Amino acid sequence: AGERAACVARIRELLARERAVLVAHYYVDAELQELAEETGGCVGDSLEMARFGRDHEARTLVVAGVRFMGETAKILSPDKRILMPDLDATCSLDLGCPAADFAAWCDAHPDRTVVVYANTSAEVKARADWVVTSSIALDVIADLHARGEKILWAPDRHLGDYVQRQTGADMLLWQGSCLVHDEFKGTELELLRAEHPQAKVLAHPESPAAVLAQADVVGSTTQLIEAARKFDAGLLIVATDQGILHKMRAAAPGKTFLAAPTAGNSASCKSCAHCPWMAMNALSNLAETLEHGRNEIRLDPALGLRAKAPIDRMLDFAD
Ligand code: 13P
Ligand code: SF4
Repeated sequence: AGERAACVARIRELLARERAVLVAHYYVDAELQELAEETGGCVGDSLEMARFGRDHEARTLVVAGVRFMGETAKILSPDKRILMPDLDATCSLDLGCPAADFAAWCDAHPDRTVVVYANTSAEVKARADWVVTSSIALDVIADLHARGEKILWAPDRHLGDYVQRQTGADMLLWQGSCLVHDEFKGTELELLRAEHPQAKVLAHPESPAAVLAQADVVGSTTQLIEAARKFDAGLLIVATDQGILHKMRAAAPGKTFLAAPTAGNSASCKSCAHCPWMAMNALSNLAETLEHGRNEIRLDPALGLRAKAPIDRMLDFAD
């Protein structure tokens, strides 16, 4: 405990020395989330992280999350120095959507508006008309659909399928998935709900359709935390990465949270739903990153410029 406290104190000093600000996601360690908040940084969903990084005056941003979040920060602020505790923190959606294959797919469907999820590489974003995050995907697609546009969607098939069913838009879906959310199981969730009929279900839209069909709220991480706060139910079943429980408990004190079941688990599972790449962010590598200016995100400026247009489109739409 003494070592951790010393590490936290050192990170505070280094953030001040480097005039850096920490931008964290809800799935990283609670200690990192706390540090971000206490030092004037932010904890948020992907859209909020992008906006905060873009608007903050600090010249150095430290992004505690996964690679696409650091890249998005760099794309939006090419003149800032963007550091990450571990540059190998990737995402199964990004891995499952290689830029060359994606470009060939786009080439085969030139009549469609290309919408990609933020969980993609800069190369994939550069090929898109729109980038969206989970908090805004539904609204953007509904708007495009209302204007008669046909959509090419990548990479998350569950989010794409959910948005397609909600809006009725004409969408072709890339078949990617999040390795954390893909594990939530509809049948086991039904059993858990039967044990706790009073419980409400909060689900991230990267979860399979059989789970989303049972959800009382489907939304981004921030939207799920807000729903946990607002619901008058005392028992909430949560289908997303368990890192979110730290903030959910703080936002809704006195309520009880159960993890939604994953494969083969009819009981709640406390540790299985956690992203291995988000877990690569720790106090120790954050301190080292700041100490030595290591792990800087570097992007070809021309690529960054191409990737920026579809992100700006989303941010303008959100404002
Ligand atoms: P949010 O934008 O909802 O925070 O989601 C990001 C993510 O990676 C979910 O797995
Ligand atoms: Fe990617 Fe899933 Fe991890 Fe989010 S939780 S970063 S979508 S692998």
